[in-house]
Amino acid sequence: MAIIVTGASGLLGPVLVQALRDEGREVVRLVRRTPRAPDEAFWQPGEQVVDLAALDGAEAVVHLAGAPIGDKRWSEAYKRELVSSRVEGTRLLVNAMREVAAPPQVLLSASGVDFYGDTGDREIDEGQGKGTGFLADLCERWEAEAGRAAEAGIRTVRMRTGLVLSKKGGALGRMLPIFKMGLGAPLGSGKQYWSWISVDDWVGAALHVLKHQDVAGPVNFTSPSPVTNTEFTRTLAAALRRSAMPIPVPAFALSAGLGEFAREALLPGHRVLPRKLLDSGYRFTHTHLDEALSAVL
Ligand SMILES: NC(=O)c1ccc[n+]([C@@H]2O[C@H](COP(=O)([O-])OP(=O)(O)OC[C@H]3O[C@@H](n4cnc5c(N)ncnc54)[C@H](OP(=O)(O)O)[C@@H]3O)[C@@H](O)[C@H]2O)c1
Repeated sequence: MAIIVTGASGLLGPVLVQALRDEGREVVRLVRRTPRAPDEAFWQPGEQVVDLAALDGAEAVVHLAGAPIGDKRWSEAYKRELVSSRVEGTRLLVNAMREVAAPPQVLLSASGVDFYGDTGDREIDEGQGKGTGFLADLCERWEAEAGRAAEAGIRTVRMRTGLVLSKKGGALGRMLPIFKMGLGAPLGSGKQYWSWISVDDWVGAALHVLKHQDVAGPVNFTSPSPVTNTEFTRTLAAALRRSAMPIPVPAFALSAGLGEFAREALLPGHRVLPRKLLDSGYRFTHTHLDEALSAVL
């Protein structure tokens, strides 16, 4: 029985696919172009088309696809794409899972800790309600579509992912060139908490929840030790043996340079704890930022 992966060409997809194959699992990647390999099947969320035969009798679906959050300045049109690529893509997938004769037994669907909005320096877990803002609203709609699989009796995990540490891309990948020049600096007040997770632990946690039948609903994919942005800046600079700038980048300058993305993704704080992962027995490989960065870099 295969595991179906969407968004498999992104930052997290290839690492997860490799880890699944290393465990001897069969993986089929849903691709948005003509399939070129026997382990690929077609879907096109924009046209609401998906290869039903690939899903029929599959064991699980891991749904990672969505237009990249941090790659472009957010115009109104791009914000619509961020939403529609996630909401419509998830709807298509869940409709298909509900339609096939032998539905997959589990859906792991990506989401973000942005769901919680800005929660300051209070520790929060999966019991925390939805916050405010564009990304919180996006996560709510994205998760609601995934929740329709749960309504149909499919075990569904909504992976509320924090900042994944990988040198190949994502937030850390974009920060590295700046920090390597010694130009890293706290952002805004620097007091906002960033909830991070190493890419190894993100994959480890995904494999863990795939196997643990009792884990369902929202699950925070974050390390147990979130840090303030100032601490993150200091630790990253130290890991690269560089100094960080002593003066923070003011919030207004970030907003002017990066627009709404800065106000939504860089300046709000969430001190998120991975309660469900810990309670279900997941053992993190990297619990502290300095050792996680050493491993990643
Ligand atoms: N990395 C993080 O730190 C982080 C944090 C929180 C949440 N997440 C979420 O976790 C998921 C996976 O993260 P990632 O970092 O691997 O994402 P990513 O590198 O941005 O990759 C997402 C993948 O989605 C597909 N995609 C791109 N544009 C699309 C569109 N318009 N419509 C449908 N599919 C599209 C692409 O795969 P194909 O070309 O193969 O279809 C792309 O490789 C994403 O949904 C992301 O928002 C990630």
